[in-house]
Amino acid sequence: MNLRYDGRVVVITGAGNGLGKSHALEFAKRGARVVVNDLGGAGDGSGEDGSVASQVVREIEALGGQAIGNTDSVEDGGRIIQQAMDTYGRVDVLINNAGILRDTAFHKLDEASWDIIYRVHLLGAFRTTRAAWDVMRSAGYGRILMTTSAAGIYGNFGQANYSSAKLGIVGLANTLAVEGATKGIFTNTIAPTAASRLTASVMPEAMLKALNPEYVTPVAAMLCHESSDQNGGLFEVGGGWVAKLRWEQARGAMFSPGTMTAEALADRWSEVTSFDKARHPSSIQDTLQTLGEEIGMQFGLSVQ
Ligand code: NAI
Repeated sequence: MNLRYDGRVVVITGAGNGLGKSHALEFAKRGARVVVNDLGGAGDGSGEDGSVASQVVREIEALGGQAIGNTDSVEDGGRIIQQAMDTYGRVDVLINNAGILRDTAFHKLDEASWDIIYRVHLLGAFRTTRAAWDVMRSAGYGRILMTTSAAGIYGNFGQANYSSAKLGIVGLANTLAVEGATKGIFTNTIAPTAASRLTASVMPEAMLKALNPEYVTPVAAMLCHESSDQNGGLFEVGGGWVAKLRWEQARGAMFSPGTMTAEALADRWSEVTSFDKARHPSSIQDTLQTLGEEIGMQFGLSVQ
């Protein structure tokens, strides 16, 4: 194992089950001191059980590793980071992984199911990361891994609340990648697919077997290592397959002033939507540059 975490403190939210537990065991095996956070509730976010986090701590200790348990909700993320600081005095890696589901078709979605999903996924990731951010900025070092979902990236029936919160996490990660770059803090996001209690009822048995959470964890172990220079990446990962995603922007159509009518637009719609000669902007500067060039060509200006 070359990618060691000796001396590092790794905070993993929702580490009592599924993906988070797999991450926790792996980071501990690689020498990290792990903060195993888990509220221990049901898959829909109801209830709590303090033994869920401590069970994983015992498993890590049985393997000769070091860990502490934390049973706060990620909605109180500041307390998780405070416990890490009180116990270990540092936070090098934060993996925002805790999650629940309240699936229902949008026409039946009520505010309570919207709110709890937002609070656990997006507000929880914000609060935990906001507290860790101060620590990492002071240290001049940090690695943050967010957990989004294909449901957020592509949309999925019955998951309006979840997909909104999950894509919000990608937006948060995009800006943290920009703000953290000069401070030694790199933020990446995974969209995993894995067998867990959240997917047990929606996937066939054979598929679940192929989707062991352990097949996702190496991506976390690599991206969160000090040797990784990946920042702002979004990766789909599951079943041993991993691939980076990016935005694709059609070449588009430019209209001279006053000529963009609905009819003119309809005539040139194929230019707006064709991905022949597509661009792949990876920053706001890239897309503003494109806009500037299009406007510059229109008015005969040169854009720097
Ligand atoms: P899981 O249910 O096995 O594990 C999630 C853990 O988060 C549970 O142990 C739960 O107690 C904990 N948790 C829930 N609310 C919490 C809170 N407020 N504070 C602290 N801990 C809390 O689920 P799984 O599948 O391992 O999911 C992990 C993450 O991956 C979630 O964010 C999920 O949305 C995401 N994900 C999973 C996919 C999959 O195929 N399993 C697909 C896409 C995303």
